[in-house]
Amino acid sequence: MAKVLYIKANPKNNGESRTFQISERFVEAYRKNHPEDEIITLDLYKEDIHFLTKEDIDAIFGPKTEESRNHPVLRYTYQFAEADKYIFAVPMWNLGIPAILKAYFDYVTVSGITFKYTEYGAVGLLDGKKAVCIMTTGGEYMTPPMSDFEMANRYLRTLLGFMGVKDVKSIIAQRLDMEGEDIQRILGDTLQKAEQIAQVF
Ligand SMILES: Cc1cc2nc3c(=O)[nH]c(=O)nc-3n(C[C@H](O)[C@H](O)[C@H](O)COP(=O)(O)O)c2cc1C
Repeated sequence: MAKVLYIKANPKNNGESRTFQISERFVEAYRKNHPEDEIITLDLYKEDIHFLTKEDIDAIFGPKTEESRNHPVLRYTYQFAEADKYIFAVPMWNLGIPAILKAYFDYVTVSGITFKYTEYGAVGLLDGKKAVCIMTTGGEYMTPPMSDFEMANRYLRTLLGFMGVKDVKSIIAQRLDMEGEDIQRILGDTLQKAEQIAQVF
């Protein structure tokens, strides 16, 4: 039985968010194909996520004890480390990810738990795990020349790779705010792709 973390980074509810429309379809299809797996939903706006304080940084860099598992920040780190798969649902905001997701990554990217430093540099500790990044964007950023501006999907893939998660798939609906676009067609195609990838994820 795999443990799946479904990480949602949008203050909108499922009905209002196009990103969640796709991610919910993915999760529904995943559940159907993997009924034995446990899916834990982390709606970041409903979690106790804040910017790291001085005390948090001391705990992150301090000794890890049994008590650390209950620390308000480190409990998220251990939860992340103990998952087998990650589903991210993320709209592009200002060319990157919403700040709350960056704040969450500051919780989970912790030396000694999700990566470690060796004499050769940093090494990820989350080998063998997989992730899917479900994203929507108003414009188009996945092809040149605008791909140079794209720092949402690239950041997710890079940071996950840094922690050792190398198997990262992306499901992206683009151009959703562009004039004259057939939004329903784009969303329909992406929903179909989400269902297909959910079967083999
Ligand atoms: C604060 C904010 C910033 C945004 N910045 C970008 C951006 O830099 N590039 C882009 O293509 N779309 C941008 N958008 C548009 C959203 O990415 C797009 O509408 C997306 O589909 C919204 O997803 P949702 O329906 O799940 O909220 C932004 C939207 C918001 C609310």
